[in-house]
Amino acid sequence: MEHKGTVRLESERLILRRFEMSDVDAMYANWATDLKTTKYLRWNPHESKMVTAEYVSGVISLYINPMTYNWIIEFKDENTVIGSIDFHAISDRDERLELGFCMGSRWWNRGLMTEAVRTAIGFAFRELKAHKIGASYEEENVASGKVMMKNKMIYEGRLREHYRKHDGTFSDVLYYGIMRDEWEKLK
Ligand SMILES: CC(C)(COP(=O)(O)OP(=O)(O)OC[C@H]1O[C@@H](n2cnc3c(N)ncnc32)[C@H](O)[C@@H]1OP(=O)(O)O)[C@@H](O)C(=O)NCCC(=O)NCCS
Repeated sequence: MEHKGTVRLESERLILRRFEMSDVDAMYANWATDLKTTKYLRWNPHESKMVTAEYVSGVISLYINPMTYNWIIEFKDENTVIGSIDFHAISDRDERLELGFCMGSRWWNRGLMTEAVRTAIGFAFRELKAHKIGASYEEENVASGKVMMKNKMIYEGRLREHYRKHDGTFSDVLYYGIMRDEWEKLK
């Protein structure tokens, strides 16, 4: 792959850009403390703005590495940041990345994350020359799965009791993927 780091991307309604320390207040208010947003995520709602500040500062410190892909999502209409999207589990050998995303519930169901994911996938295939992009979701998190399906990712399988929820119980994870040639056929 040809790594480029977290470069600024833009779509019709969104700007995907690097986190900045000035984003802490909006992140804290818009999604880091949103119980609906964190319900299916690995982290708990932030208990104070200090936690958000530490997180943002940590992300910023990683941008020096060109294999870091962690964008904050700015919603142009409201001139505010509403969520984030990232690539993790990057395998250069396999030319593969995995997507993660989250957004404040006030902005759900308007197609915004589908648009952000489309932008990130296009960037990975076009600019990074990735071969495959994967993503997975805890099976109750139907909206997350819909975002993958709306981006023409294909269901690949079920990882049994792969995810430990906040309540301590385990649930299955569904894995989706899209290959470069499949994405090219969509154009
Ligand atoms: C998952 C998430 C990113 C979706 O973002 P979004 O901008 O609302 O997504 P979109 O509007 O692009 O698409 C959501 C789709 O799910 C559908 N949907 C939402 N809730 C649903 C439900 N309970 N059952 C069935 N479909 C549902 C919406 O109708 C929409 O589909 P449609 O366009 O065909 O109507 C957002 O809900 C979120 O941030 N959740 C919390 C964090 C998270 O779970 N991240 C993913 C971890 S894998």
